[in-house]
Amino acid sequence: MPEVRPVVVDCDPGLDDAVALAMVVASPELDLIGVTTLAGNASLAHTTANAGALLELLGLPAELPFHTGHAGPLARVQREPDEPIHGPGGMGDIELPAPRQPRPGHAVDWLAETIRERPGEVTIIAIGPLTNVAGLLLHHPDVAPLIGDVVVMGGAAFVQGNLTARAEFNFHADPEAARYVAESGVPLRIVPLDVTRRALVTGEDIDRLRAAGGIAALMGDMLAYLARGFERRHGIRACAVHDALAVAALLEPELMVWEHAAITVECSGEFTRGELIVDTHGRLGREPSAAVATGIDAERFRTLMHRRLTAVSH
Ligand code: RIB
Ligand code: CA
Repeated sequence: MPEVRPVVVDCDPGLDDAVALAMVVASPELDLIGVTTLAGNASLAHTTANAGALLELLGLPAELPFHTGHAGPLARVQREPDEPIHGPGGMGDIELPAPRQPRPGHAVDWLAETIRERPGEVTIIAIGPLTNVAGLLLHHPDVAPLIGDVVVMGGAAFVQGNLTARAEFNFHADPEAARYVAESGVPLRIVPLDVTRRALVTGEDIDRLRAAGGIAALMGDMLAYLARGFERRHGIRACAVHDALAVAALLEPELMVWEHAAITVECSGEFTRGELIVDTHGRLGREPSAAVATGIDAERFRTLMHRRLTAVSH
């Protein structure tokens, strides 16, 4: 049995964040030691209430550390408008339990304390903008060498963006933070749109989840909400479940194709602000410190996701 990996989920729920969290909870290889939130798909108040409701829904222990983080990007006053794909409030039309309240103390400070206590062990699953992760490195620089690794859902390496022609939502929401993390030298696994868009969840997948009952059925309802929007925009009943692929990258990295690269994020281009820059030829003058997923076995991902979501007991 592979050793159990302590993980923190840093998120902006968000319907696909919810599916990612459920997959973590369903995976015995992962030990969820905390959840932190930030603004992204919705305001910090909404993403934190959504996360608090999901902790209740998933039956997580009351003593699980749960902290709120940044309410907006590092370098700008205004944050991105809410992500309409997730509906007003960020969780579509899904009925959720009353939310659990976060604990006192900023997410960044709790993350630093936790990483110092467990040097080299903790994986951060970063599935929103990178403001909290950058804040951790800026305010607590001593922890950079103590972080196990960071798995990031974000960026568009060799495909179009989903917010602008070149930028993906999480990186566009806080390009300065994304760049700081990209250039920090902390070991990163980047799960970009290149793979999340190639592993669409189909209408049949959604129907199978809904037929399974329990938490799986509720996750199916969340995906059905995303799929209705996707169908309006693209004409097929399917959806991308971006954040769940960051968890899949931890559970079965071999289902993706990885390129080792030096990366950075454009922060000033008129048309390219937020763009992920992937350099596999040493042209950025830095050693590769990121593994970027550029290919995926989509069927294998869908099977993994179904198996884990139907194993969530609560
Ligand atoms: O671009 C996809 C990302 O933006 C996901 O994390 C989704 O939750 C939204 O935040
Ligand atoms: Ca997210």
